[in-house]
Amino acid sequence: MAPNPLHTNTNHEKEHWMKMFLPILFLCSVFFSSSYAAVQDFCVADLSAPFGPAGYSCKKPATVTVNDFVFSGLGASGNTSNLIKAAVTPAFDAQFPGVNGLGVSLARIDLAKGGVIPMHTHPGASEVLIVIEGSICAGFIDSANKVYFRSLAKGDIMVFPQGLLHFQVNAGKSPALAFASFSSANPGLQILDFALFANNLPSELIEKTTFLDDAQVKKLKKVLGGTG
Ligand SMILES: *[C@@H]1O[C@H](CO)[C@@H](O)[C@H](O)[C@H]1NC(C)=O
Repeated sequence: MAPNPLHTNTNHEKEHWMKMFLPILFLCSVFFSSSYAAVQDFCVADLSAPFGPAGYSCKKPATVTVNDFVFSGLGASGNTSNLIKAAVTPAFDAQFPGVNGLGVSLARIDLAKGGVIPMHTHPGASEVLIVIEGSICAGFIDSANKVYFRSLAKGDIMVFPQGLLHFQVNAGKSPALAFASFSSANPGLQILDFALFANNLPSELIEKTTFLDDAQVKKLKKVLGGTG
């Protein structure tokens, strides 16, 4: 039986297209699946360059030293002589250039007796807290307003999902120490009370948008340095 020339042609064409497209598909999949880290070992922050959504620009690799990957600033306790009786010492990209682009960072949290890290959120990172000394009551509120909080003892860790409001309070009678790690070199920070009462947004608008009364708003503005 004579072969069908049309059939042969179609097969031939198919093969031709496959041969042309497979390498292209393969290249595309390599480009789309390769991560930043696969192209470059690290991107130590050039702190003199502008900061953008992806972090800092990279220092020239020739100028990078081990000192860029070591930070000694978390060894000393922070100064807790302040309104919140607490201190957060960051080791983010601005302080610790080696973490730039790596999606990790750390902070030290000192809480004097009665110390509080007020309700706040990190828009750019989830957080894991480990208690080293003392006892800390910590918690967060999810977007359905369900509350998760408890007292943490030495060695306990707690995770705070990215973007959710959370807090830490010294729950003991002695100073507390904790370290927090973040899933970003620059977690970002917005403190709820500071956003509401530490700026010049007119009190009338704060009262309208929070349903708080005038006296309460003015009192908190006075304490936190807000005006208007
Ligand atoms: C801690 O901060 C307070 C208030 O700003 C200041 O008076 C004090 O000197 C600081 N203490 C140290 C050890 O830096």
